[in-house]
Amino acid sequence: MKIDPYQTIDQLYAAAADSFCELAVKCIRDAGRFRVSLSGGSTPKQLYEILSNRDLPWANIHWFWGDERNVPHSDADSNYLMVRDALLDRVSAPASNVHPVPVNVDDPAAAAVAYEATLKQHFPGQSMPAWDLALLGMGDDSHTASLFPGTKAIGETERWFTENWVEKFDSYRYTLTAPAINSAKQSWFLVSGVGKKTALANVLGDTRVPGLYPSQLISPTRWFVTVDAMA
Ligand code: 6PG
Repeated sequence: MKIDPYQTIDQLYAAAADSFCELAVKCIRDAGRFRVSLSGGSTPKQLYEILSNRDLPWANIHWFWGDERNVPHSDADSNYLMVRDALLDRVSAPASNVHPVPVNVDDPAAAAVAYEATLKQHFPGQSMPAWDLALLGMGDDSHTASLFPGTKAIGETERWFTENWVEKFDSYRYTLTAPAINSAKQSWFLVSGVGKKTALANVLGDTRVPGLYPSQLISPTRWFVTVDAMA
């Protein structure tokens, strides 16, 4: 695990964008494709905006969602819509490469099963999805993806993808499970802001309480962190 501290958020984004482009080009050179699981949130969003100005082999990148809200794709809270606006609608990303969660507001369990089947089609014969990269944010409550403290999905070890009731939102979310994130070849947290300081200290601390600090479930390969979020 590599923790990269940055003095400013702009330096963090520049480094993350450079690393993303380097990894994508390498994966495409070696395997002809780059399969990335995207995170929602404002920190990842600004990275997507920066990537939209980079020159990448868009036809060889496949975009998946690590988590989603239980709202229509047209809803302002949709992670799908956020990524479309911040990145995919600004570059020549083939529609066939974009794999959103098939949200079903009235039956999130069915939607989660359907997305899990989609993931298994893209990672055939694997016990868990071998993402080339899983991008992750972290909330000030130590959640990541939609693995929120005290929620059922935290304990899921068999499924790749599941619906998850989140009491504090009085709604369902959709999320990769922890093993389906840890199966990534590269997994990067993007964490910035003094508001994340306590959560980051808890997650990186010696006291392991994943039910309270769900980001502890993840063994990331890199942390991109601004110094204002570090103890
Ligand atoms: C979501 C995200 C979530 C997010 C964190 C960090 O759907 O909200 O997937 O896990 O990454 O909450 O969000 P910020 O970067 O906006 O703090």
